[in-house]
Amino acid sequence: MMDWTDRHCRYFHRLITRHALLYTEMVTTGALIHGDQPRHLDFNSEEHPVALQLGGSEPEDLATCARLAERWGYDEVNLNCGCPSERVQRGAFGACLMAEPQLVADCVKAMRDATRLPVTVKHRIGIDKIERYEFVRDFVGTVAAAGCEVFIVHARNAWLQGLSPKENREIPPLRYELVAQLKRDFPQLTIALNGGIKTPDQIAEQLALVDGVMVGREAYHEPWSMAQWDSRFFGAPDPATSREQVEDAWLAYLDRLHAAGTPWSHAMRHALGLWNGTPGSRRWRQIWSDHRLKTLAPREVARQATEARLGAVVRQAA
Ligand SMILES: Cc1cc2nc3c(=O)[nH]c(=O)nc-3n(C[C@H](O)[C@H](O)[C@H](O)COP(=O)(O)O)c2cc1C
Repeated sequence: MMDWTDRHCRYFHRLITRHALLYTEMVTTGALIHGDQPRHLDFNSEEHPVALQLGGSEPEDLATCARLAERWGYDEVNLNCGCPSERVQRGAFGACLMAEPQLVADCVKAMRDATRLPVTVKHRIGIDKIERYEFVRDFVGTVAAAGCEVFIVHARNAWLQGLSPKENREIPPLRYELVAQLKRDFPQLTIALNGGIKTPDQIAEQLALVDGVMVGREAYHEPWSMAQWDSRFFGAPDPATSREQVEDAWLAYLDRLHAAGTPWSHAMRHALGLWNGTPGSRRWRQIWSDHRLKTLAPREVARQATEARLGAVVRQAA
């Protein structure tokens, strides 16, 4: 997710789930080919498994970027066919690519020819007022014929005119049944559902119908909601049994940034939801967001934040 799932955010999420596949922000082919590649592509080895999401519609450029993804050590390369923003439409990629399934197929083929990494596609169930199931079915069929085996389906339309990207994540109705239908029609493909999923029980309910679930906003805003994913969905131990454990490991990471002269607040903004839903979480968040404290060492801010959080707990109990 743009501005959200940068390498710091992904490192933080890895302290809570080792096994969920993490995705980068979308990076455009232009930014990668002409821009600062290490800035866009570097990541910590702890983040595996991690997928690079690309935005673009030129098969050759996408092939070049897929090669870069492999060289940098990513585990998957994903093509964005779901973003509705106008800036993206001007570049003729994102959700408007759903109107050109053959072009997407050409892109996928070029990427597959360029890398051994899995090439996957994230898309919507339709664009604008096209609500027929056949539209998304034919899109998936055409792209699958080019060798794509994994589709992540945001289960709502993208309305390309008149809605902001934020509204496009809220207003077009969710239609999970279309994603389940895709799985029935393409049993050999891996179909993952995305959109509006919040709880582990909702994930489990969808996993009875499809192969995977992608969680965006809830994972970001309520990171502790991922705490039992590994044990429940991957049959593996959960990496942390308490928020304190996560905070401790995260502080070690912030310390390393601070020692290297990188402002830790860039990373910390992604972790502000850690204590959400517990007494004192608001005070904890306020301390960590206080601009006046941003030059202090993270441990010092943590001390103040924890004191404020526990102070609030004591006051509540009194
Ligand atoms: C701030 C923000 C940035 C996003 N950036 C991307 C992106 O770069 N690529 C993408 O495929 N989807 C992006 N999305 C959409 C999410 O991946 C997801 O499809 C959408 O939020 C619905 O899932 P959710 O209800 O679990 O959040 C973004 C969403 C948000 C809130």
